[in-house]
Amino acid sequence: MSWKDKINMDKLPQHVAIIMDGNGRWAKQWGKPRIFGHKHGVKSVRETAEAAAELGIKYLTLYAFSTENWNRPKAEVNALMRLLVRTIHKETKTLHKNNIRLLAIGDLYSLPKITLQELTNAIQDTAHHARMSMVLALSYSSRREITNAAKKIAQLVASKEITADSVDQNLFESFLSTHSIPDPGLLIRTSGEYRISNFLLWQIAYSELYFTPKLWPDFRKEDLYEAIVEFQKRERRFGKTSEQIIK
Ligand code: FPP
Repeated sequence: MSWKDKINMDKLPQHVAIIMDGNGRWAKQWGKPRIFGHKHGVKSVRETAEAAAELGIKYLTLYAFSTENWNRPKAEVNALMRLLVRTIHKETKTLHKNNIRLLAIGDLYSLPKITLQELTNAIQDTAHHARMSMVLALSYSSRREITNAAKKIAQLVASKEITADSVDQNLFESFLSTHSIPDPGLLIRTSGEYRISNFLLWQIAYSELYFTPKLWPDFRKEDLYEAIVEFQKRERRFGKTSEQIIK
């Protein structure tokens, strides 16, 4: 029996976020350079996006490159940027086929011009798709996103456009790059690491966290289904008691 048959379609997470980790270790297992792992990770991206869209998940956010990743060896960063350009270009047809809209969050202007161009094109070309949104986190840092929001709010208060008293969670959220996207119900991290690594720190306040030892290039549809089944076993209380939830 497939994990898919165990999924309760009425209790799907609206938004799944994934920290795709383990590409380097996967390549090492094969005695290959790290980029070999990133290249094979593209198949996992395709499979996961298709599986999520087929199920009816509305948002899939993938942590593809953090601001800290800029500190990797130049050759790896360059190879990853080239891979991103090629992948976005090639996979736009997968997005069309599955009616998926592409979005991106992060410090996109720090990306090489050609990467940003390819990304912008794909975002524009897929803007009409409505089955699912796939959000790529690129050159993303959650602390930076939160700091930028705080800075913008401070400027509005300083210029008296808003009062300090009017700053609440809703207003704060509206300054985050994810402002039109619901918070993730489920956050998955592959490769057996138990860390959040500066990813969606505000947005995962009440997300269910799921860690799997699978390395990202080995992650397939079944692994997503399994994570969703596990998500559905959890009782999401949002700070309330069990009794209040059952009522
Ligand atoms: C983490 O593994 C993975 C990355 C930093 C890059 C992920 C990129 C892709 C899968 C390529 C294309 C993606 C898209 C969305 C178009 P790691 O290198 O940190 O692995 P390690 O922890 O084993 O060293």
